[in-house]
Amino acid sequence: MNIQALLSDKVSQALIAAGAPADCEPQVRQSAKVQFGDYQANGVMAIAKKLGMPPRQLAEQAVAHLDLAGIAGKVEIAGPGFINIFLDPAFLAQHIDRAVQSDRVGIAPVARPQTIVIDYSAPNVAKEMHVGHLRSTIIGDASVRTQEFLGHKVIRANHVGDWGTQFGMLIAYLEKQQNENAGDMALADLEGFYREAKKTYDEDQSFAERARSYVVKLQGGDEYCRQMWRKLVDITMSQNQISYQRLNVTLTRDDVMGESLYNPMLPGIVADLKAKGLAEESEGAIVVFLDEFKNKEGEPMGVIIQKKDGGYLYTTTDIACAKYRYETLHADRVLYYIDSRQHQHLMQAWTIVRKAGYVPESVALEHHMFGMMLGKDGKPFKTRAGGTVKLADLLDEALERARRLVSEKNPDMDPAELEKLANAVGIGAVKYADLSKNRTTDYVFDWDNMLAFEGNTAPYMQYAYTRVLSVFRKAGIAEADLSAVPVLEASHEIQLAVRLLQFEETLAVVARDGTPHVMCSYLYDLAGLFSGFYEHCPILNADSDAQRQSRLKLALLTAKTLKLGLDTLGIETVERM
Ligand code: ARG
Repeated sequence: MNIQALLSDKVSQALIAAGAPADCEPQVRQSAKVQFGDYQANGVMAIAKKLGMPPRQLAEQAVAHLDLAGIAGKVEIAGPGFINIFLDPAFLAQHIDRAVQSDRVGIAPVARPQTIVIDYSAPNVAKEMHVGHLRSTIIGDASVRTQEFLGHKVIRANHVGDWGTQFGMLIAYLEKQQNENAGDMALADLEGFYREAKKTYDEDQSFAERARSYVVKLQGGDEYCRQMWRKLVDITMSQNQISYQRLNVTLTRDDVMGESLYNPMLPGIVADLKAKGLAEESEGAIVVFLDEFKNKEGEPMGVIIQKKDGGYLYTTTDIACAKYRYETLHADRVLYYIDSRQHQHLMQAWTIVRKAGYVPESVALEHHMFGMMLGKDGKPFKTRAGGTVKLADLLDEALERARRLVSEKNPDMDPAELEKLANAVGIGAVKYADLSKNRTTDYVFDWDNMLAFEGNTAPYMQYAYTRVLSVFRKAGIAEADLSAVPVLEASHEIQLAVRLLQFEETLAVVARDGTPHVMCSYLYDLAGLFSGFYEHCPILNADSDAQRQSRLKLALLTAKTLKLGLDTLGIETVERM
């Protein structure tokens, strides 16, 4: 149950009854301090101002109309006109009981499921995945999991860079390698392959000529070139698939919707934009001038959609892509997890998309951008030698460090279990470190921080989960034997209960904004509240059997919520560590 939404509704109705307009915003929020209740309505002052009414008077009249029977135990007016709401422990107990018995911790799927296309990961063919793709992959996948849990239909779109003039060179180089019998193995080192191809292209005249002829042939649908191109894509994507699996990311080969998919649509798009009077010829190229963007001279910015030589651009592809996602995939909403440096590119593409009427305003195109991954020195994350960090190497190191860490703590653990644990902790740490930061800013990649057992980290959260489970195990009671409806009396019980029931509104925020760090903070806070509760409210030595069962239910729901929350983030949990 979404308590915040429920209270917003109720306070709204009360305000309207007190004379506020029908579209008034009660601004019901979780209270920052216990003395302000569990929720507070902050909207009264603004509404009163519009009505020309003293805010306290409006608050009093609203409270007189406010019907929170069975929900709140107490309602107070504070300061200039805040309404503080204290939830009724019996209401909380009833919902805790419902949640603990449900396999979705009481959260019903959304009433109106949407089709949501999520564009994420999007590595490039014949190139190693780099840290930018890592962020997109991890954050995008958490977003996918959250939307799917809520019951939306998610279409994963892996917008792989699998098209462009560089493919002539790559095909020619693959051919050269095959002739020289190095076979396809050379592609195991994608970075090296690309670098050598480029070098050969720059140094060898006849190679360069062949490369150029292959671009033309590939675009013309030549069978041989298509085959070689396929090989390049396949080898790259099977390597990336290994990384996805290691990362516990849900992308599969079927989710690849690369740039090449849109290529056949591009001539039609350019012709249509011309026909609509949006595009024009300028110095041989086809350009869309946008008043919304100004160049350095303060004139409307020209966005090239077709080059002088007839070639199309990244922007042209993204125009076609947005159109396709609406028209063919029937998206209600499209989320793009791409780094912030591409923001202007997307804004330009979408401005053209809207002007051309390819996607109606009712369908949101959202850039869920993120900052860069930095080294401890505050500079872009690089190897010591200054090269790009290969994803596979990064994951190897995570595993290695986690292995050391967990075997120190569990010297007697069976090797297979230890390896599983190291994997959960190591991969979890890399992912959680990224997910727990507000994605819009740069973040510093720091092994020691992310693997610490204290603070908002994966190991801490995973450990907290196992601790709650062990509390439950020690009690020796089966889940099914917990019968009584909980009784919440101690403030630690009540606070934990409120927070547990706020899982749903946390999910709603993450789903709306695509901000997994909000879930991380919530879970971290929940784990902390559980510790306080555990310290102050004895479970095994409770005063009565009813109290013991009641507390065990809180523990059980905490475990379930932690697990489910971590699931939506794509972080694995273990039973023991
Ligand atoms: N392949 C691109 C890159 O490596 C990212 C593509 C993002 N998606 C998109 N629809 N433009 O920068």
